[in-house]
Amino acid sequence: MRQAAAVLIIAACAAVSAQIAWTPIFLDGSSQVDLWTQSSSGCACPGGEGEDCACCVRDGACPCGDIAPGRCAQCGLEQYCSNMCNITIDSRVLKSKSGKTFGQIKSPSIEGPSACSYILQPDAGQRVEIQLYRLVSVGRFNGSSCVGGWLQLGDAGAVPDSGRAAQTRLCGANERYTPPVVLFADHGASVLDFRITEKTVRSQFLAFFSFTSLSNTQGVGFHPRGGSRIPQTDCDWLYQDVSCRGVGSCVLASPGYPGLYPPHRRCRYLFATNSVHTRVKIIFSSILLPRNHCATDYLTLRAGSSPSAPLLASLCSERSAVLEHPGPNLLLEFNSGPLVPPYDYNGFIAKLEFLEKIDTSGPPPTIAAASLPLAALTHLTNGDNSAVEVDPVSNEISSNNGGHVGCGATVRGFGAGGVRSGHFDTRASAWRSQCVIHLLGTSTDVVQVSLFNYNLRLPSCRSHIEILEGLHEISGRGERGDRFERGDRAMLRICGPSVREARDPSGRFLVRQAVTSKGSNLTIFVRRATSQSVDEEEFVDGAFAFHDEQHEGTVSPDATCASTHYGLASPTHGGVSAPSHHHIFWNIEEQLMCTNRFIPASNQSVTIEIQRLERMWSAEPTGSVATGNGGCRTACGDAGCECRAATPLHYHDHIALVAGDGTHLSCLCGDFQAAWLPVVVRSWTSLRLEYSVAHYTYASRGFDYAAAYSFNDDAMCGQRTYTTHSGEITSKNVTVTGSLNEFFYQQCTWVLDSNVERQLYIDISSEQDKSCSSWNITLHEWSGPRAHGDGLAASAGDLLYTFCARHKNHTYILPWRLNTVVIRLVALSRQQPLYTLRWRSQVVRANRLGPPTPAPAAAASASNVTYSVLLIVLTLCSRYVQMRYARITI
Ligand SMILES: *[C@@H]1O[C@H](CO)[C@@H](O)[C@H](O)[C@H]1NC(C)=O
Ligand SMILES: *[C@@H]1O[C@H](CO)[C@@H](O)[C@H](O)[C@H]1NC(C)=O
Ligand SMILES: *[C@@H]1O[C@H](CO)[C@@H](O)[C@H](O)[C@H]1NC(C)=O
Ligand SMILES: *[C@@H]1O[C@H](CO)[C@@H](O)[C@H](O)[C@H]1NC(C)=O
Ligand SMILES: *[C@@H]1O[C@H](CO)[C@@H](O)[C@H](O)[C@H]1NC(C)=O
Ligand SMILES: *[C@@H]1O[C@H](CO)[C@@H](O)[C@H](O)[C@H]1NC(C)=O
Ligand SMILES: *[C@@H]1O[C@H](CO)[C@@H](O)[C@H](O)[C@H]1NC(C)=O
Repeated sequence: MRQAAAVLIIAACAAVSAQIAWTPIFLDGSSQVDLWTQSSSGCACPGGEGEDCACCVRDGACPCGDIAPGRCAQCGLEQYCSNMCNITIDSRVLKSKSGKTFGQIKSPSIEGPSACSYILQPDAGQRVEIQLYRLVSVGRFNGSSCVGGWLQLGDAGAVPDSGRAAQTRLCGANERYTPPVVLFADHGASVLDFRITEKTVRSQFLAFFSFTSLSNTQGVGFHPRGGSRIPQTDCDWLYQDVSCRGVGSCVLASPGYPGLYPPHRRCRYLFATNSVHTRVKIIFSSILLPRNHCATDYLTLRAGSSPSAPLLASLCSERSAVLEHPGPNLLLEFNSGPLVPPYDYNGFIAKLEFLEKIDTSGPPPTIAAASLPLAALTHLTNGDNSAVEVDPVSNEISSNNGGHVGCGATVRGFGAGGVRSGHFDTRASAWRSQCVIHLLGTSTDVVQVSLFNYNLRLPSCRSHIEILEGLHEISGRGERGDRFERGDRAMLRICGPSVREARDPSGRFLVRQAVTSKGSNLTIFVRRATSQSVDEEEFVDGAFAFHDEQHEGTVSPDATCASTHYGLASPTHGGVSAPSHHHIFWNIEEQLMCTNRFIPASNQSVTIEIQRLERMWSAEPTGSVATGNGGCRTACGDAGCECRAATPLHYHDHIALVAGDGTHLSCLCGDFQAAWLPVVVRSWTSLRLEYSVAHYTYASRGFDYAAAYSFNDDAMCGQRTYTTHSGEITSKNVTVTGSLNEFFYQQCTWVLDSNVERQLYIDISSEQDKSCSSWNITLHEWSGPRAHGDGLAASAGDLLYTFCARHKNHTYILPWRLNTVVIRLVALSRQQPLYTLRWRSQVVRANRLGPPTPAPAAAASASNVTYSVLLIVLTLCSRYVQMRYARITI
């Protein structure tokens, strides 16, 4: 009883200790016996017999009666005076009986093992709050959890001890908590479970409870503001700039704030912006984590939406902090370890502000400098070193105010200080109803524009955005006719009223709205109301990029990031690297795949040499709780390098070299050692370099690499069709780079064709001691030209024989009258295949026994044709009956 009195004094004096807050529970005076009993005697007994019963506090207390004449209890709970165990406390019932939404729970003194539970039923708009003051013989903490007994606050609906062991369990042998240990529960009916699992003599606890209103302004009514729960997660939240307008409109905190947070949790708070210029300011007004537990209890902030994005900050022992970073995505992660005594911490609370900062001084953050090769620049430089010009009407923009492109800007993709990509925003300049932005590239450029956000208010297309090929000026007169004329030619036209926000309400970026010009110049034209509306400005923002098709390949207009290099049209040597046009990837936060296709001409090969490579990361599969899933490892062998990972490849950053037919020639991922570079692949068919970032975000941008390509004139496969009766094909020796990881990929197809009947002998020999899987030569029947593909080359039919290098020398005698055969060579190996292939024919000119066998090419070339007859011939030398058209000469 004396302990309880001491507790009351403390509760009265300090409702807020340091950073932990709790509901003050205080009734009449400071020298009471307990919360509801004024004094243990001196008042009339309920039956009217004498004056030696307890005096109750004036408000909400009722005498216990015969079971405990010296005590009072809260009205509605007086039947539990002597044994407050296994009871339900309903907020509404309690309020009607005692007028209070708080009270005390004093357990009976129990002998372990035993248990009591208390169901706390809050009303709508209430949290369950527990303030623990005393534990006697209630287990102990063994360094990671409570053993022997505990007090636990949990969800009444949950099955006890099911699922993870991440329960809020408190224990102690003989503990007084001043200030109290504070716990909040926000999932409706909660259960306070008092459980002793070992033998004890006297186990007991004392706590206060409160059904705390969520509208309580003392901090105890905390509930998150402005965010939305991410479904199917434990405690993850999304906060978007659009829902956080106004100071204090977005607030977040650790679970159970301002009480103790549950153990072994990981809560993620994603902050997402819709505008390029928005910065996120996180004001941690309080951080209170257990001392010396920074390895398990901490906060991290990352530049991106993925847990593997670069770390910006890590917080643990700080008491407060302010962090400010640009978007588009930031991920705050809160981690908790075991619940450690003396339970004197409560996590964090933070306010979120989204700051629009269009005008920044200092180096331009949104403009990438021109990176054209010098040779391409020399004839373009014209002494004008300003890449962004502004017409005289507005002098707000210049190339050195951060390069923000607004109305009236002309952006040049070339020259000294030329700009290859950047953002534009009509709000970056003074209001004008007609707004043009000119994008001027070099002769080999195309221009890409992607729209992020816009708001067009005037109906019937009176407000609109048009994106046009070439350069166009605003014409003052004849506006209407001009508009329609332009409208017909626009690559993209958006009519008001129309609104686009870069993200949907769940925080996902919308599908890109982008165009690519055919020519090197482009005009963005915006028409809107003559004056700006205060509450709802008409604007458009987005990004642009110049793409030099001469050096960077031909753009695939429908793809986000794909270009093609043709052997006959592209420079014979060049480089490729991670995409530099990152501004137009601002609204990508998933996998980014960029492909460069290389298409050699028929007498060319292409060599790709990966020269430099940054460390590549693995993303976590979404929804997975486990971290460190092993990542991805590169293994190189005779048949190229391969990516080895337990999860699908798209979870891992990687570079892959893929042949036109889909064969993976090499794949690099993980922490590929620089010592193993360069990796070189030389291919005699088309080749695709795939650069894949598992989780791209604008801030982290993916890994860097550099590769060189060259188209080589080497007709390795040579002449494709031979009509001579004998001949020889030998391998050619190409120069090698000498790199350890140099691989050759060859696919050659030759057709030996004859229009007279013959017995064909083919000798193949090689001195190389290589396995069949490195390279092999196969002999096939001819199956007739295919509808697609390059004529005869694609016509291999049934397999007849396979030659491998270890056979050294072999002569194949082909079936009589198999006049046309297809020979294929396939190689994927560190060494180029070296072989000699010879053939000869025995021609029997006077064969009168069977019908003649046909030639593959049906085109008539013989001059001695008198007439042609179509015959259906059963060709018996095939394993099955084939129907063929035949030409006979009589
Ligand atoms: C309270 O209820 C539980 C479960 O019904 C029971 O095991 C326990 O013995 C009860 N406690 C007391 C003190 O009667
Ligand atoms: C503490 O107790 C738990 C549960 O009994 C047990 O799993 C754990 O290993 C114990 N830890 C230590 C450090 O003894
Ligand atoms: C692009 O504009 C510039 C400047 O007006 C002009 O010299 C050039 O010819 C234009 N290019 C194309 C392809 O129209
Ligand atoms: C390769 O073929 C192209 C056209 O098909 C031809 O112009 C060129 O001379 C050829 N090169 C060699 C080395 O044969
Ligand atoms: C091919 O070149 C390699 C080295 O470049 C040489 O060792 C080899 O003998 C050459 N083979 C032929 C058949 O010329
Ligand atoms: C023939 O060589 C190719 C390329 O190295 C290989 O993929 C294929 O498996 C080989 N075929 C046989 C039958 O070994
Ligand atoms: C391969 O064998 C044939 C006959 O068996 C012979 O004529 C030819 O010279 C041999 N070729 C090589 C390269 O050994």
